[in-house]
Amino acid sequence: MIDRRLFVRGLSAAVATASTLVTESALAQQSKADAEAAKQIARTTENSPFRIGIIGPGSRGNELVRSFLRVPGVKIVAAADVYPARFAQLNEACGYEVPTHADYRALLDRKDLDAVVVATPLGLHAQHVLPALESGHHVYGEKTMAYTIDDAAKIVKATTAHKRIFQVGHQYRYSPWIRAAVARVQQGEIGDVTHILAYWNRNNNWRRSVPDPSLERLINWRLYNQWSLGLLAELGSHHMDIANWVFGSTPTAALASGSICYYHDGRETDDNVQAILSYSGGRRFIFTSMTDNAKMGDQLWLYGTKGSLNLTLQDATFFYEPQRITKTPPAKDAKGVTTSASYNPAGEMPYRGPGKPVQVTTAEDPTTAATRAFVYCVRTGTRPIADEHVGFGSALAVVQSNQARLKKQEVEVPAAI
Ligand SMILES: NC(=O)c1ccc[n+]([C@@H]2O[C@H](COP(=O)([O-])OP(=O)(O)OC[C@H]3O[C@@H](n4cnc5c(N)ncnc54)[C@H](O)[C@@H]3O)[C@@H](O)[C@H]2O)c1
Repeated sequence: MIDRRLFVRGLSAAVATASTLVTESALAQQSKADAEAAKQIARTTENSPFRIGIIGPGSRGNELVRSFLRVPGVKIVAAADVYPARFAQLNEACGYEVPTHADYRALLDRKDLDAVVVATPLGLHAQHVLPALESGHHVYGEKTMAYTIDDAAKIVKATTAHKRIFQVGHQYRYSPWIRAAVARVQQGEIGDVTHILAYWNRNNNWRRSVPDPSLERLINWRLYNQWSLGLLAELGSHHMDIANWVFGSTPTAALASGSICYYHDGRETDDNVQAILSYSGGRRFIFTSMTDNAKMGDQLWLYGTKGSLNLTLQDATFFYEPQRITKTPPAKDAKGVTTSASYNPAGEMPYRGPGKPVQVTTAEDPTTAATRAFVYCVRTGTRPIADEHVGFGSALAVVQSNQARLKKQEVEVPAAI
């Protein structure tokens, strides 16, 4: 049985990754002695060969390959894809010709792999991750971990049963400024965090050009329900993962809505969505995504009783509430109007002052940090920060939000599966 407590245990198992990450305060959960031991192992293994096979070297797969190749010792030794046109780009990224397979099962049969990367469309994740784990491979699997809760639970169980390392593509867990900022939030810097408001807005139709109409669903899979859970999964999963991390558990209920507002082009998935996730104690996470105006970009606001935190892909900034407290209004204003708690003659203007940016010793790209950490974890048998429980938690939030969107009503998120 997978339950919220197990999920929380997975979260608290965060441990050292490698070199620069070890210096970040978010890894303070680990004792100094553990950190020294981890560094020692990293030093002794860091140049040994590490052979990766990738299933689905598409857009994200190639980005992952480029990141993995920066880790000393890594070589991409095999790839599997149903669309051979992808292999040229992979060879270019690697600088050599990678042996390829049309069927992922042939890749899994290879005996020369230290790990497998799965970067296929969401609806296929479990189909590729489960046999990879079952055939004894460690797996870096892209987010959202699975298309259904059952499949996500199967991945958790298979990781344990086969004693493998599984890391999910929630690389923001490895972002130095987000880790440092969340650690400060967890130490109480902005009081009790009661709300998280997350935007991921773009001005882009999400379409890719298709050389042949028969390839439409393979290439534009995000626009069709068969393999996609739309914006909730593709963008929202990252923010839901951060909400789970900050709130320390999975949500208890989900509400969501969406529509096709602008891109009436035959797509099935919504071009805008809004979701509200409830967490224990009445805490809320609100996600909104639109694809025809990019003003707000990709950012989260954590609102606490003593301050706020803004997180972006490049930085983290704290704002403190005490600066905003206005004097209690007089009982009557200058025009003789009686004032009350609901009327403040000074107005309730947004705070426009400067924030306090989070300083970190390294601003390493999150994907680079995550891939390096994965290699370290496999080499040393260390549990990843973004492990199968982290993946399960965000998949649960995504799938239940999507259920709420489809049912047009609030759905409870099960406490145990
Ligand atoms: N972590 C992140 O920030 C991040 C960013 C982008 C995408 N992603 C995730 O990565 C995954 C892939 O997204 P993408 O944009 O790279 O998609 P993509 O379409 O560019 O790549 C998917 C690849 O899988 C291949 N594929 C499809 N069916 C297959 C099958 N049956 N067997 C083998 N290969 C098959 C496709 O041909 C393609 O090469 C998605 O789950 C997405 O959510 C994660």
